[in-house]
Amino acid sequence: MSNKRKTPEELRSHRWYGVNDLRSFGHRSRTAQMGYSREEYAGKPVIAILNTWSEMNPCHTHFKQRVEEVKRGIWQAGGFPIELPVQTLSEPFQKPTTMLYRNFLAMEAEETLRSYPADGVVLMGGCDKTTPALLMGAVSMDLPAIFLPAGPMLRGNWNGATLGSGSDTWKYWADLRAGKITEEDWKGVEGGIARSPGHCMTMGTASTMTSAVEALGFTLPGFASIPAPDSRHAQMSAKTGMRIVDMVWEDLKPSDIITRKAIDNAVTTCLALSGSTNAIVHMIALARRAGVDLTLAQYDEIARRTPVLANIRPTGEYLMEDFYYAGGLTAMLKELGDLIDGTQKTVNGRTLGENIADAQIFNDAVIRRRADPVMPDTGLAVLRGNLAPDGAVIKPGAAEAKLHVHTGRAVVFRDYNDMAARIDSDDLDVDADSVIVLQHAGPVGAPGMPEWGQLPIPQKLLKQGVRDMLRISDARMSGTSYGACVLHVAPESFIGGPLALVRDGDMIELNVPERRLNVLISDAEMVRRKAAWVEPEPRFTRGYGAMHQMHVMQADKGCDFDFLQREGAAGSCSAGGEPEIH
Ligand code: FES
Repeated sequence: MSNKRKTPEELRSHRWYGVNDLRSFGHRSRTAQMGYSREEYAGKPVIAILNTWSEMNPCHTHFKQRVEEVKRGIWQAGGFPIELPVQTLSEPFQKPTTMLYRNFLAMEAEETLRSYPADGVVLMGGCDKTTPALLMGAVSMDLPAIFLPAGPMLRGNWNGATLGSGSDTWKYWADLRAGKITEEDWKGVEGGIARSPGHCMTMGTASTMTSAVEALGFTLPGFASIPAPDSRHAQMSAKTGMRIVDMVWEDLKPSDIITRKAIDNAVTTCLALSGSTNAIVHMIALARRAGVDLTLAQYDEIARRTPVLANIRPTGEYLMEDFYYAGGLTAMLKELGDLIDGTQKTVNGRTLGENIADAQIFNDAVIRRRADPVMPDTGLAVLRGNLAPDGAVIKPGAAEAKLHVHTGRAVVFRDYNDMAARIDSDDLDVDADSVIVLQHAGPVGAPGMPEWGQLPIPQKLLKQGVRDMLRISDARMSGTSYGACVLHVAPESFIGGPLALVRDGDMIELNVPERRLNVLISDAEMVRRKAAWVEPEPRFTRGYGAMHQMHVMQADKGCDFDFLQREGAAGSCSAGGEPEIH
């Protein structure tokens, strides 16, 4: 970015609209066909709006209206808005998992921007994977880009009880299976848990990632915390549309915003929120798109110094609506003080420090003070050992403390179907000290590394009152989940990682304070089992699935495709390498 403003002739869209040749005649005549006269767009920045709205995505229901507010802002600021629908990635509906398609949307976002006359882009996302996917694509393309978060839905409500997305689903499902609530109660929970547009309102992946992206500098200050139905969300949408037009004239691009320190700010934010473990995978992928080599070890280092300040479920007590009323993300960032680098540039042209300077906490039960955190430093732990040579993660705050140091006997399921068939069997040889292991749930093996990591507690143990036990897999876990679940084991079992070699009865040792995860068998036995291991048949033989299994990297590398990351740079990224378009 320089201080010089672009001229209309320097706009990328000038190549489509501004020159006088046969092809630009086609562009202009076809724009006229859509009802626009030359005066409406000539010499103006063309702003692409990548909208993930669909009738299959309940978290983005309001995007049909919000996009009109974005367009209003773009028109008012002198731009020309073009709405371009892209993959919706609806968390509740898409199978086998939206994670399989995160890279699909990232590629679609990048290629849509590359192939059409976009000068800048508004990214409309919020439901879990949409946020990282859109950002990953925009960072690779490196056009001026601003993110519009869907905003959290209102608190759930049933019979006077406040319900939280996901967390209360698991809680009441366990109660139903244990016979503590009735089918009628369960229907009541179903009707009241999601009662407005917006993404999940617990500290799941959606709230974690939209907050991280604001801290990274890609969202107007304060926007990520505003509940979706709030009129201020609509106002902020119009402001987002206004701002992107100026960003184009200023040539303020992702490469001017993403730096090593900005990534660290975003990671610190995820941890202070006690955010979803999914954010680790997404932040690593996003950083690597920008040429910043964020590692699990660096994540753990930041985790050790970052207190949890957001008292939000599932770690805490409140929901995102309360967080907004308590001051929202800007207030929490300000309270983090020297843990945040305030010098980093953001989309409004000001620094993060300037954006949060006047923020206030209005309720310090919801946004805790640094002197009185929800937890001092235990938002996340990265584990290593012979069971996870490339790392695994656990969220100790969401687990019973007595399980932080635990050794138990493995009960192994070879895949999800095996687990579903046997987990509730009365014959299952399991007790409260056992360690449940699920294989073949990783990026290649599941496929797509679904959120299966909160492995179910066997019904016979639930009936005995067991509510947490140690569980291990190469899957992910919903940020709204809880329990002593070791996740993201790398390398994954499907490609021959050590998790594939664990057998019923092996002793497994977890030590969170010492960051250790081991299966207690000898090296020689490990080698013997590896030699006998048989590689499974590939999951796909054609199409996107085949490309995914061939190119997806492991969890510790962010699960991006190997040919999309930009490795090596220690600081800010360089331009996106857009080829000339003819
Ligand atoms: Fe969309 Fe949770 S289902 S954010």
